Amino acid sequence: MKSNHIPKVTVHTLAKMKAEHHKISMLTAYDASFARLVDQAGVDVILVGDSLGMVVQGGGNTLPVTMEEMIYHCRSVSRGTERAQIVGDMPFMSYQASVEDGIRNAGRLVKEGGAEAVKLEGGADYAELASRLFKIGIPVMGHIGLTPQSLHAMGGFKVQGRSAVQAKKLLDDAVALEQAGCYALVLEGIPQELAQEITASLTIPTIGIGAGVHCDGQVLVVYDLLGMNEEFRPKFVKRYDNLAVRIRTAVEQYITEVRNEQFPDDQHSFSKDAPRPESATPYGSARAVGGGSDERDPDASGAACIPLPFPRKK
Ligand code: KIV
Repeated sequence: MKSNHIPKVTVHTLAKMKAEHHKISMLTAYDASFARLVDQAGVDVILVGDSLGMVVQGGGNTLPVTMEEMIYHCRSVSRGTERAQIVGDMPFMSYQASVEDGIRNAGRLVKEGGAEAVKLEGGADYAELASRLFKIGIPVMGHIGLTPQSLHAMGGFKVQGRSAVQAKKLLDDAVALEQAGCYALVLEGIPQELAQEITASLTIPTIGIGAGVHCDGQVLVVYDLLGMNEEFRPKFVKRYDNLAVRIRTAVEQYITEVRNEQFPDDQHSFSKDAPRPESATPYGSARAVGGGSDERDPDASGAACIPLPFPRKK
């Protein structure tokens, strides 16, 4: 069952936000549970970033991420999202070899993953691909500056655009991508003065990460914002929580209670004498996305029924 009354964020919403000077918030998500939470909190854009290669898969960079993995995560995010625009990241080598590769793979993110736009790293060299995708009807978000897929060429994750030559090149790239039809542009790891200049030169919104306050919006990796990795402390990340500590504390408490036989207690156990509405709703039925226990099981409406996590989507 899908609700129709939550207005979806689209390319037009984001254009209007820039025109009206409303800042755009964007966050990554890689699964339905996180997507649902950041969507409910009101984020405008959810990026299924290839950063999943690092924060989900534990790799040292994003290069090994595959199309199949991106599609899998996009599909999960799309099931948890009602309002935010869903952007799927084009992984390394899914578009660099040819425009045809790029078209086919962008199409897969939309068709199989449920993405509503794709993001690709690179400047004017990818203007042709962006333009073809625009004509096909696939919105493209560009990404310039510190582009993690070019890690080896950049000699590491380094701030870009500090020299006048580099800055001019990035400005030219930004203009070329706008002219090619990109609807938004991520500016990563560049001086804030340059980000301000690029933002003022474009009619499409810029979304910054490590690019200062003058962009039209901001993006962070959701695990960084939540403080899930205590070792990762780059300058551009602000932590809004310390979930690493909180998760460990909760899990330690669970372990202690299991060892001490404090959990499960009577409140969390079933009794053979219980009334019928106390029916359990196991994983795989009502917990599955779109699984409607209320429709299938007349007894499942009782107070002990586990609520559907994603009641409104596909
Ligand atoms: O993959 C990603 O998460 C990104 C953002 C950090 C912009 O590209």
